[in-house]
Amino acid sequence: MTVPAAAAERAAFLRGEIERHNHAYYVLDAPTIPDAEYDKLFRELQQLETDHPQLLTADSPTQRVGAPPLKEFPPVVHRLPMLSLNNAFSEAEVQAFDQRVRDGLDLPAGAGPVEYAVEPKFDGLAISLTYENGIFVRGATRGDGATGEDVTPNLRTIRRIPLRLAGTGWPALIEVRGEVLLFRRDFEKLNARQRERGEKEFVNPRNAAAGSLRQLDSRITASRPLSFFAYGVGAGYEALAANSHAELIDRVAGLGFPVSRERRVVAGAEGLLDYFAEMGEKRPNLPYDIDGVVYKVNRLSAQDRLGFVSRAPRFAIAHKFPAEEATTEILAIEIQVGRTGALTPVARLKPVFVGGVTVTNATLHNEDEIRRKDVRIGDTVIVRRAGDVIPEVVAVVPEKRPILAPEFIMPKACPQCGSAVERLPDEAVARCSGGLYCPAQRKQALLHFASRRAMDIEGLGEKLVDQLVDGGLVHSPADLYGLDMATLADLERMGEKSAQNLCAAIAKSRNTTLGRFIYALGIRNVGEATARDLARHFGRLEDIMAADEAKLQEVQDVGPVVAVSLTAFFAEPHNREVIERLRAAGIHWPDAAPRHDGPRPLAGKTLVLTGTLPTLKRDEAKSLIEAAGGKVAGSVSKKTDFVVAGDEAGSKLETALALGRPVIDEAELLNLLNKKD
Ligand code: IVH
Repeated sequence: MTVPAAAAERAAFLRGEIERHNHAYYVLDAPTIPDAEYDKLFRELQQLETDHPQLLTADSPTQRVGAPPLKEFPPVVHRLPMLSLNNAFSEAEVQAFDQRVRDGLDLPAGAGPVEYAVEPKFDGLAISLTYENGIFVRGATRGDGATGEDVTPNLRTIRRIPLRLAGTGWPALIEVRGEVLLFRRDFEKLNARQRERGEKEFVNPRNAAAGSLRQLDSRITASRPLSFFAYGVGAGYEALAANSHAELIDRVAGLGFPVSRERRVVAGAEGLLDYFAEMGEKRPNLPYDIDGVVYKVNRLSAQDRLGFVSRAPRFAIAHKFPAEEATTEILAIEIQVGRTGALTPVARLKPVFVGGVTVTNATLHNEDEIRRKDVRIGDTVIVRRAGDVIPEVVAVVPEKRPILAPEFIMPKACPQCGSAVERLPDEAVARCSGGLYCPAQRKQALLHFASRRAMDIEGLGEKLVDQLVDGGLVHSPADLYGLDMATLADLERMGEKSAQNLCAAIAKSRNTTLGRFIYALGIRNVGEATARDLARHFGRLEDIMAADEAKLQEVQDVGPVVAVSLTAFFAEPHNREVIERLRAAGIHWPDAAPRHDGPRPLAGKTLVLTGTLPTLKRDEAKSLIEAAGGKVAGSVSKKTDFVVAGDEAGSKLETALALGRPVIDEAELLNLLNKKD
């Protein structure tokens, strides 16, 4: 059956268009048409090829979906061997390389610096791509350098590899070399997908790229978002008529291949070391992993003169960054308790040099992560330390597991204070519930307790808390009320006057409100507003402490998470003990129970509020007054019993003074509220 000329022409046109858009999208990162239009072109081509199978060509963009599985990869003998690079790990080794190059080129001591083409060392897999008359015909792995594996069907699925070279007038044969890799964001996505499907996650982008490329079923490869960068030319390079490596790579880019944006030409050893430093800084922000940089003598004629020693060129070298991953053993798993009570399992490691330092600990994040990675004491693991990031255990080497390696179990009691460990529904983190008592949380608890919106102890800042806790003077907030002038004045950088002020501030804080007190306890998920709502609803601390989750949820805005946080906190005997001691130390508040018959010290009294009170909010003050039987009026008259004036009090204060009504401040109001009759 013959194919109508119009169909053949249309198919050729569509292929050209689709490849052009592919190149713009995958190589240049600059899409030229909307996805929907691209899909339309693609479907039209697919339809034409279905209707006229003779039209189907190996370079058709429809052929990137993968082919039926192979039994094995056929061997490919490389036309030119794929060599490896020697490594340099220090400045001295780079300088020695530059000197060897100069000697090899017979440069006299006074001659100018050698020009080098420099580029990232991609952390992926080397491959070779052969094009005959512009069409991709074969792709192979490096293998042993002489013979690789034919992975053509897999490479066809990689969008960044052109199936047909761009432009026209191609050499009859050209072999482009480069690296297959996974961008970090694609690696994350791939692992998220593996996780969702309950399949094993990949340790790093390199392993994921290797695993994906060496699939006998190229349909699996097609589902993996592999990428590619070209960094050289093998057979056929003469045809590109380039004088330098930089020019050669420009030509390769012109043929439609993605090349690194980070490539440069620099002068001498100094230029090499500057580039190394530059890339070291850029490395954490690059979208793909690199494990070093590669230096190549730029002039191709100079490369020829220098030649090769055994399996590596004399004209190039890889300058490696310190490895970010290493293998070591887990000696123990310990639990660290953070300032907020979070329990973090930490692996104690057999010391290992990684990321430029010796690492002895690595975080295991949380219980779920340990389960997911199945990490056990005695395991051999891969540890990663990238930049300044905390070292972490990436994966276990399962073959090396000792016979008796029990599963890790999160302790039920806090290793620091013995309080119960709780884990809220929907949270990955387990926490110590002894917030008021736990030494790990002491400083945090004290700072919060003393903060302005809590007990408002002025002057009790971070430095002082450090001194009090580190000096063993304060273990819990209750100890604050036992501090005396002499002890305080003895502290470093504490004058008599400051000690006096602090003493006064601590004493003053005894007179507070229930809402503030609850907030000050630092119960997880209980903020200022929730604390106030709880106080208003229950009126008495005892009732809040005795309430079960259902009762607590009767309070507006208290949901199951807050309710569990509250019950867990009050169930912990250590916390109850501290609360008891706080009350015994004289902390008190007006009973503000609308639903119980407490004393009503302001019964029959009318008060007016004006200005900003130092600690109480306007509605807070109002509800306290009302709960104590008083009334809050909007303006001052002869019937006003008290005017409560704060900062920037306005005309109400003037009226009060003119009418001779008593004016009081917040402290006096709290005193009135706390009167027992
Ligand atoms: S050039 C004659 N350039 O490093 C040597 N290699 O250790 C040709 N690699 O197998 C290699 N980025 O997989 C070259 N910009 C780059 C590279 C690079 C990564 C890898 C490549 C090679 C290995 C050599």
